[in-house]
Amino acid sequence: MTEENNTAPLEGKFIVLAVTGGIASYKSIELARLLTLDGAQVQPILTQNARAFVQALPFQILTGHMPIEAMFPIEGGRHPGDMPHISLTDRSDLIVLAPATANIIAKFARGMGDDFVSTLLLSAKAPVIVAPAMNPRMWANPAVRENVHLLRSHGHLVMEPGAGRMARAEEGQGRGRMPEPSEILTEVRRLLLPEPDLAGLRLLVSAGPTREKWDAVRFLSNRSSGIMGFALASVACLRGAEVTLVSGPVSLPDPPGVRTIRVESTDEMRTAALNAWKNMDAAIMAAAVADFRPANPISGKQKKESGSASIELERTPDIIAEMGHKKGNRVLVGFAAETDNLKENALDKLRRKQLDLIVANAVSGEDDAMGSETSRAHLFDASGAEEAFPLLEKHALAEFILDRVAKMWEKNR
Ligand SMILES: Cc1cc2nc3c(=O)[nH]c(=O)nc-3n(C[C@H](O)[C@H](O)[C@H](O)COP(=O)(O)O)c2cc1C
Repeated sequence: MTEENNTAPLEGKFIVLAVTGGIASYKSIELARLLTLDGAQVQPILTQNARAFVQALPFQILTGHMPIEAMFPIEGGRHPGDMPHISLTDRSDLIVLAPATANIIAKFARGMGDDFVSTLLLSAKAPVIVAPAMNPRMWANPAVRENVHLLRSHGHLVMEPGAGRMARAEEGQGRGRMPEPSEILTEVRRLLLPEPDLAGLRLLVSAGPTREKWDAVRFLSNRSSGIMGFALASVACLRGAEVTLVSGPVSLPDPPGVRTIRVESTDEMRTAALNAWKNMDAAIMAAAVADFRPANPISGKQKKESGSASIELERTPDIIAEMGHKKGNRVLVGFAAETDNLKENALDKLRRKQLDLIVANAVSGEDDAMGSETSRAHLFDASGAEEAFPLLEKHALAEFILDRVAKMWEKNR
């Protein structure tokens, strides 16, 4: 990230990241990166068994802190202070246990201290976030359920593991996957940032593609998955905003707490978005709206014998430009999906449509953002200043975009 415009919400916060011995421990390297990117000082600690899965070096390089791996001083160092399990817990604002094995969950719940991580947890003063990761049969085990229940009753935040593909494909859809690093980041922010910074903000988000009807069964559309818009809507909602989401056809469920309006065509999206815009403070238009539609859609199904080989297209209405004209001092953010001349095209769009910020990403090649869980985005503001982000999960990118929206909204109030 460039220094300019950089916000670091977790600046000044000291977080202990404890990594235990599961397959998902490689994901904690990404978590260390996200927490550091967010401004936190991160002290990694690894169990001996975690070291069977990951090396200490990436944690050291990403956080700038030497990971602690043992309870007692070992030859070669890696052991700051006399009683680091006490001094670290004195200093820490938060402890994140990710991934948390069934073993550490049991030790933590029952008050055991037979290694550095469990002993540190015994003397913890700060809140603890537990991000479990294990085989679904282990997660379903009654002893594990009981330990999780105990930890929750002790006031610790035990996140729900995700469903979906596990290390062993035959485990099917049971729960056990470690929550994604970006979801853990959201929980960290929620715990450490006392006031939800978007409370009072009325935010419109658009997501997904639109479908432009050609005949009774066929349409023109694009590859947009809606992941970016849905991530923005749910993160904004967690940060206290009152969110209206207008989405084209996607296969994602309604985000909890968000007013979701489902539409199909550009015309329907335009009506819903312009109606909602009247009562909003800000809008982030992440939908990939069709630029063209069939000029003469057919009511029945076009027979292949009688059909013409070409479809005449016409321009669709430009929703965000219309919103830009009625913007006043509200915040309007657009997206630019480009295959070439990213910067030039994004800045041109920003100016033509009177946007405050544009999120530009490539939609071809290796970093193709469309339909993907990740994006390598560039942000440009009205002064032309650029901020380039590394490849990020869209959920994490949503946090950074919303930081900029929060700042602009604050300034306009
Ligand atoms: C290949 C492999 C993968 C493992 N993955 C997990 C896991 O995802 N979750 C878990 O709870 N235990 C897992 N285990 C078992 C733990 O590594 C084992 O219980 C260990 O004692 C945990 O130690 P720790 O909690 O001190 O790191 C795995 C073991 C092996 C051999």
